[in-house]
Amino acid sequence: MAAILSIQNLRKSYAGGFEALKGVNLDIEEGEIIALLGPNGAGKTTLISTVCGITMPTSGSVTVAGYDILDNYRQARSQIGLVPQEIALEPFEKVINTVRFSRGLFGKSRKDSAVEDILKRLSLWDKRDNQIRELSGGMKRRVLIAKALAHEPRVLFLDEPTAGVDVELRKDMWEIVEQLRADGVTTILTTHYIEEAEAIADRVGVINKGDILLVEDKDTLMARMGRKQLDVQLTTQLDAVPDALSLYDLRLADDGWTLSYSYDVNAERTGITKLLNDVQEVGLQLRDVVTRQSSLEDIFVSLVNEPEEVA
Ligand SMILES: Nc1ncnc2c1ncn2[C@@H]1O[C@H](COP(=O)(O)OP(=O)(O)OP(=O)(O)O)[C@@H](O)[C@H]1O
Ligand SMILES: [Mg+2]
Repeated sequence: MAAILSIQNLRKSYAGGFEALKGVNLDIEEGEIIALLGPNGAGKTTLISTVCGITMPTSGSVTVAGYDILDNYRQARSQIGLVPQEIALEPFEKVINTVRFSRGLFGKSRKDSAVEDILKRLSLWDKRDNQIRELSGGMKRRVLIAKALAHEPRVLFLDEPTAGVDVELRKDMWEIVEQLRADGVTTILTTHYIEEAEAIADRVGVINKGDILLVEDKDTLMARMGRKQLDVQLTTQLDAVPDALSLYDLRLADDGWTLSYSYDVNAERTGITKLLNDVQEVGLQLRDVVTRQSSLEDIFVSLVNEPEEVA
């Protein structure tokens, strides 16, 4: 199946020469939900703005549903809904009008049933006649999504949709994205919240300093890079890891009560049984043993914190 969004070797240098995108390649299939994770300044908003035609690419190409974003700008743009990172709404406008207006901007004929459907889906129908300034912050975020959906796009960009919103609304957003998928809408969202990527994405991309470091199926990523940690809680406090256990590469907790052992979940031999034996051999008593799965967060931090290359 052809990709609904295809980004080839996309570069963006801002005036002044700063290179915010350094040759990004990314193909996204229809109906996918992909989360782009990356620290502040990684280039996430630049990537979205370039695809949406808000900033001009320096080189490379992007097609949306087969339309080139430069050669077929209008067709390409009409396939895309964008929820920007910053809330920018007209405070005195009524909710329903602002959504109608967004639809009209794309040259779509007025279709009240479509607007009604979108407002209901976002639980804004009751607020349709309220002015924007009368809404809570979370409701304003929903209005941004409603506006982005007003022209019935096939690809939705959400630039940090849940920054600063409460847990309830965050979960609502995830549900909205999931429902949109059922209608065939492809969603690309950026986030700083790893649990967000973990919760809703099919694929996760990690972007840092203008480069995509990795794009992978979320489950594969977690299985491939996933490690588990075994915490051995002791009945005595230690100053250092006993020499007799040095072959295990253990970490002693700051308080001296716990030894941590990291192992590969997929390895044939994890070494746990031998470790626990050896711990007792050196005369230590176990109070408890706890394991925890390393999360996407651990993976992300280890990727983004790779040591700087020396030029
Ligand atoms: N209009 C601009 N002119 C010059 N540099 C810019 C401009 N917009 C962004 N940049 C720079 O490009 C880099 C990437 O910025 P961008 O906004 O894409 O990051 P981001 O990943 O969205 O970060 P955040 O998570 O903080 O939103 C940053 O170093 C930023 O300062
Ligand atoms: Mg941004």
